[in-house]
Amino acid sequence: MTGAGARADRNDLEPETVKAMTYVVNESCIKCKYMDCVEVCPVDCFYEGENMLVIHPDECIDCGVCEPECPIDAIKPDTEPDLEQWLEVNAKFASVWPNITSKKEPPADADEFDGKADKFEKYFSPEPGEGD
Ligand code: SF4
Ligand code: F3S
Repeated sequence: MTGAGARADRNDLEPETVKAMTYVVNESCIKCKYMDCVEVCPVDCFYEGENMLVIHPDECIDCGVCEPECPIDAIKPDTEPDLEQWLEVNAKFASVWPNITSKKEPPADADEFDGKADKFEKYFSPEPGEGD
């Protein structure tokens, strides 16, 4: 039995009254791919591309623990502005790239790509990574 004071979760709410939230990986991850994030996700919802990771928006439970783990601040809640493109990239590629749950060796030149501009145009790869 549910008490009168029970808190509604988002599944109890009408779809039009709530926007499902997720965290997203953005452009900063491209070619850095440090992978500290995958170690802390309680629902293992990171997916590996050739040179970046993405989060599956339907699997992410919005716990937020991955956000501070990324050394270059590449993970953001989708409530932040200007993330529409990244929400699309995360959703699209999480459904085709393999799951990754353990940190591997980052690319040898990862540090050189920290903070570089226009990474999506220059370096984004739709190819999958190896996964676990
Ligand atoms: Fe995983 Fe939580 Fe990060 Fe979502 S917010 S990707 S559930 S660690
Ligand atoms: Fe990318 Fe940061 Fe994870 S660089 S792989 S989002 S730790």
